Amino acid sequence: MFVKSDILPLENSDDPLDSTLRPKKWANYIGQERVKRNLRVIIEAAKKRREPPDHLLFYGPAGLGKTTLAHIIAQESNANIRATSGPIIEKSGDLVAILTNLNEGDILFIDECHRIGRFVEEYLYSAMEDFKINLILGKGPMAKTMDIELPHFTLIGATTRLDLISAPLRSRFGAIMQLNFYEPDEIEQIIRRSAKILDIEIEEKAVSEIAKRSRLTPRIANKLLKRVRDFAQIEGEGKITEDITAKALNFLEIDNLGLEPSDKKLLETIIKKFNGGPVGLQALSAATSEEQNAILEIYEPYLTQLGLIKRTHKGRIATETAYNHLKIKCDRQEPLL
Ligand code: ADE
Repeated sequence: MFVKSDILPLENSDDPLDSTLRPKKWANYIGQERVKRNLRVIIEAAKKRREPPDHLLFYGPAGLGKTTLAHIIAQESNANIRATSGPIIEKSGDLVAILTNLNEGDILFIDECHRIGRFVEEYLYSAMEDFKINLILGKGPMAKTMDIELPHFTLIGATTRLDLISAPLRSRFGAIMQLNFYEPDEIEQIIRRSAKILDIEIEEKAVSEIAKRSRLTPRIANKLLKRVRDFAQIEGEGKITEDITAKALNFLEIDNLGLEPSDKKLLETIIKKFNGGPVGLQALSAATSEEQNAILEIYEPYLTQLGLIKRTHKGRIATETAYNHLKIKCDRQEPLL
């Protein structure tokens, strides 16, 4: 059964610094310009109509700022936000408890909303569309139904897997927005901003070095900045220099494209065990001992973004760029992509 503590305030996230570094206003949110422009229109129009904004769905790889956006939207629309996550909503009772605890105009943020229980999802349809839930009490011929009226709320869903959101659920969002990887100069701006907040002195070359290895992802940029700061405090005098940054990131085994040993293992497996591919997800998962979901949600988006792998209808293929990056000579007969 759902309890109040299942609604997570952001401050409860694993790292207390996360909430310090997260921008709380549009003015401080760097990047995702199209999404921001779109959202501002939706929010301003809703404000003028004195209605809660439409339900919104954000999708894209982890760490790009979906949760941060939800909190900014709440702030900008003067709404309370209740945050929860798909895996917590297992049974219909869990969802009913969450929905009936909402107040008029609240924002309900559901992270990982592709993981909401399959039978629970249907209750969301009428909740989103008509602000009602139709509960079925009991079983068989004695079953009774009960309509529960809900306050007008805005659901903001976030997912790394749009493909797992069913068509009926998708169709109930007023807008579906994709978050893309950031531009390198945006990641640099985020690192400078975070360094300022954390009161760390950092050389410009160190900023670009960290940015290069951050997988075009703010969460990773901030994590690396903090790790490099640790090195600077132990090995140097606190200032993040180019030299200390290179040492720290090499120690962390993050290469100049932001690849970690597990990314390289994945690429090497495609190249060495499957002669460059195409290889199906199941076979790749078995050969690397990585979960299929991890391949789909963590590795592939970035490796594809860099052009190191390509997905075809027959499976994944390592590109010539991947061979070059790993310094492996390509001796396959069929042409590479
Ligand atoms: N920290 C994490 N994401 C950010 C963003 N998009 N802009 C500024 N700081 C951030």
